[in-house]
Amino acid sequence: MARGGQTRMPLLEVRDLHLDYQAGDRVVHAVDGVSFTIARRGEALGIVGESGSGKSSLANALIRLLPKNAIRYDGAILLDGRDLMALSDEAFRREIRWRRMAMVFQGAMNVLNPVLKIGDQIAEPMLLDERLNKRQARAKVESLLERVGLGREFYGRYPHELSGGQKQRVVIATALALDPDLLILDEPTSALDVSVQAQIMNLLKDLKADPGISMIFITHDIGLASDLCDEIAVAYAGEFVETGPADRILVAPRHPYTALLLASLPRLHGDRPPSPMPGEPPDPTHLPEGCRFHPRCPWRFAPCLRHPPEIPVEGGGFARCWLNDPAVAGDRFGAPLLVAAATP
Ligand SMILES: Nc1ncnc2c1ncn2[C@@H]1O[C@H](COP(=O)(O)OP(=O)(O)O)[C@@H](O)[C@H]1O
Ligand code: SF4
Ligand SMILES: [Mg+2]
Repeated sequence: MARGGQTRMPLLEVRDLHLDYQAGDRVVHAVDGVSFTIARRGEALGIVGESGSGKSSLANALIRLLPKNAIRYDGAILLDGRDLMALSDEAFRREIRWRRMAMVFQGAMNVLNPVLKIGDQIAEPMLLDERLNKRQARAKVESLLERVGLGREFYGRYPHELSGGQKQRVVIATALALDPDLLILDEPTSALDVSVQAQIMNLLKDLKADPGISMIFITHDIGLASDLCDEIAVAYAGEFVETGPADRILVAPRHPYTALLLASLPRLHGDRPPSPMPGEPPDPTHLPEGCRFHPRCPWRFAPCLRHPPEIPVEGGGFARCWLNDPAVAGDRFGAPLLVAAATP
């Protein structure tokens, strides 16, 4: 916030980002006007939503790795105030990707090169970067292997000798090779069993604390996101439908979709089983008119046939739901959404 009368520059500011794909004669609005900020170093933003909500597309848009059928890519992406959209692809590749923003791709642990030693795979981006010679790169890889909890003796091993959790540590080490400020992790634990998942989450918490890497952590599991992240953004059909501090979202969700995601979590205590999310995600080429969640929403009412804007909510962030606009919601305004079984 304000320091010495000046506002500190956010690390990352994204405004009205769009990414559309051509799919036959139709268009998929995979990222449809998304805005968010990562205010400071060491902050983690969790992006949560069901499969198909546009999470990977958003990650790819941030790091500018777009499929050939991308037909619209615009908006503002400011890193330390610098407009990344103004950079040529060459400048982006040279200065930003891997160096400032790195990514752990969805499923990356399954595509490690089977004939390349682990250490050589991690060294690859360093050698391409050409700032380190081979000996320096080796020393750095060994220290990264230690940092991700594997130990330098893993340098000469091959992927088939590693467990799933160890492979994911290798992928994380590779992403850290050029000391990025921001790490984007796309479902980094979804293929791992629960105990290994917890170990990887602990590693991410460590990296967040020291050296203070900022993270965008993508997951379909809102419980997992709230464990690591300061802020949460809930994605639905290409939009963010709710954002805010994780603490607020967990106890006072202001969008029905968020409330239903929370209600679908398994519980340790309580006398009700988790409630499954009703309905199915919409066809991305035929999105519902008005609120995109309305066909599935137990709280829907007449105004929901109009598309809700981002409405600021108490406790921070916004919800794209008419229940938060007193002039529209009337008696329904402010009704708690976090009901035991998440039904109105
Ligand atoms: N290259 C592509 N061409 C056309 N549609 C795509 C492409 N990639 C993803 N999609 C569609 O875009 C939407 C968002 O996909 P994605 O970003 O992968 O979501 P998520 O990561 O949340 O599962 C989905 O409907 C998906 O089918
Ligand atoms: S705007 Fe209406 S349909 Fe959409 S989430 Fe809110 S109550 Fe439900
Ligand atoms: Mg995905």
